[in-house]
Amino acid sequence: MIPQIKTIEEYHQQYTQSIEHPETFWAGIAEHFEWKQKWTQVLEWNFTEPKVKWFGSGKLNITENCLDRHQTTRRNQTAIIWEPNNPGDKSRHISYGELFELVQQFANVLIQQGVKKGDRICIYLPMVPEAVVAMLACARVGAIHSVVFAGFSSQSLADRINDAECKLLITADGMIRGEKKVELKQIADEAMQLSPCVERCIVFNHKSFTVQMQAGRDLWWNDLMAAASPLHEAESMDSEDPLFILYTSGSTGKPKGVLHTTAGYMVYAAYTFKNVFQYQDQDVFCCTADIGWVTGHTYIVYGPLLNGAVTLMFEGIPSYPDTGRFWSLIEKHKVNYFYTAPTAIRSLQLHGEEPFKGKDLSSLKVLGTVGEPINEEAWHWYHQNAGKGNCPIVDTWWQTETGGILISPLAGITLLKPAYATLPLPGVQPVLVDEKGNEISGNGVEGNLCIKFPWPGIARSLYGDHERFRSMYFSTYPNLYFTGDGCKRDEDGYYRITGRVDDVINVSGHRIGTGEVEDAIDEHGYVVESAVVAFPHEIKGQGIYAFVICDRNVPDEEVLRSEIRNHVSKMIGAFARPDKIQMVNALPKTRSGKIMRRILRKIAEGDTSNLGDISTLIDPLVIDAIKAGAENLNG
Ligand code: PRX
Repeated sequence: MIPQIKTIEEYHQQYTQSIEHPETFWAGIAEHFEWKQKWTQVLEWNFTEPKVKWFGSGKLNITENCLDRHQTTRRNQTAIIWEPNNPGDKSRHISYGELFELVQQFANVLIQQGVKKGDRICIYLPMVPEAVVAMLACARVGAIHSVVFAGFSSQSLADRINDAECKLLITADGMIRGEKKVELKQIADEAMQLSPCVERCIVFNHKSFTVQMQAGRDLWWNDLMAAASPLHEAESMDSEDPLFILYTSGSTGKPKGVLHTTAGYMVYAAYTFKNVFQYQDQDVFCCTADIGWVTGHTYIVYGPLLNGAVTLMFEGIPSYPDTGRFWSLIEKHKVNYFYTAPTAIRSLQLHGEEPFKGKDLSSLKVLGTVGEPINEEAWHWYHQNAGKGNCPIVDTWWQTETGGILISPLAGITLLKPAYATLPLPGVQPVLVDEKGNEISGNGVEGNLCIKFPWPGIARSLYGDHERFRSMYFSTYPNLYFTGDGCKRDEDGYYRITGRVDDVINVSGHRIGTGEVEDAIDEHGYVVESAVVAFPHEIKGQGIYAFVICDRNVPDEEVLRSEIRNHVSKMIGAFARPDKIQMVNALPKTRSGKIMRRILRKIAEGDTSNLGDISTLIDPLVIDAIKAGAENLNG
């Protein structure tokens, strides 16, 4: 059993030990896993190349830790509860024994299809248990999974497939989320036209939609599974062999394939799950994230299964068939831990207390939030209405790159402060730095958040581009991992994340690079140049505001706006559609040609009283025109 901290004194004592003797600390945690061969060196690292190796020379397979080891004690215990989009449809309960068989069978399917250790496999599936089976089967045969969120467009899917040169794509006929039908296989077909590296496509029949199956390339999941043996011996993996790639957005350029490796990620996912949520055996854990994001990877799949937990997968959305769906789900499955995003909370807050009426939420022990800063009002509303004032809220701060939670309360142990992620977990050494990279010591301070020592779950590279990995995260401040987030440390040493300080926008917890949206907008025939910034949005946290220059007279601005929005949907996905689009004649640029986004952000926020220093602009008059246009647009 993975150790669990029980008191705040124990937390402080373990924290100190983890900083003074990190290798001893993490070796002590790693001992609680199954190894085919033990490591010889706990840690080797530098943040200059950068190089990080945890549990060097160890041999293991993460799925033996998720599945095989539970077979003697939990064969009949539920591993996954699946709640479908439509509450009238049947939910599914999959035991550890059944999941073990499915994963072994699918591992054999992958081998039959020629998959070998190190191959990249793209998974583009709805929120169904087969997504977990596919991920674990990849890990079992040593293939690297790259799950792509099923809200991405065919172009984005193709970009991700091509970047990692995936030879196999696993998808489904389609899905229905809320009332929206999504033809996944059709999107996958379009993507495969742009991705010649895909040799085979395995299709899971989820909703019996009509699909085109290309002979020689496309195969049905069920046919392959029916012919596959349920016995498969897990591949022996090195601690540092890649486990998965997950694409995320940065401030510039195309999305990056964040690469995680086997042993460190495993130890960190399991340890943080058990300690942050204070998970107790047999309890039901529900994380509402999609499996296509890191939260789904770590806290729907790996963290829970490594702990032998019961993990609930929800296919639907919070507003379908009504805005009480989350609360019905908690009641129906007697959920003990509920982990969701501030956006979802804010959108439900609008509907008041009515949806809670008649729902028994007494099973809840712990609430969690992730993905974006939570405002105090939403925190209190969640605490009072979902938690009835009795459940601690863990506001968990982390990133795709960190693999697991880095700063968070331990449920029921850490004294809470609304909207604060509170204290670093054992092994995590946050520092705040000023613009010049000087460490800001003491409390009651604010700066850019960096981490100065590796934890086991840290990403090891960007797939195929280690230099970009170095320059994105390790070059801004020498010898520090730079998170891209701004942060306050209050008088008590508590951390409060204030949001991104780079050109990344966080829309409803979805991380979007401004550059990606600009590239999509600029492809429209009328558009010469665009600049995208965030503005505060009541529900989504941040919205997307695009300033667009056109090279001709626009006959109908509304038509153009809708064309631009549709184009962004097509290139990225519907979640990246700009909320506001303002046509402008020019953008505020410095003499060196750089767009002054600071000024555009202020205008988008509606705060134009003090735009700061504009003396470096080529043409300060541009600003008056943009201000006037913004007033027009926003009424
Ligand atoms: O800005 C921070 C915000 O989400 C970013 C990471 O996004 P992503 O890689 O998509 O992972 C999201 C889920 C782990 C961070 O740089 N963020 C995440 N959690 C919080 C947060 N901001 C404030 N409070 C949080 N609890």
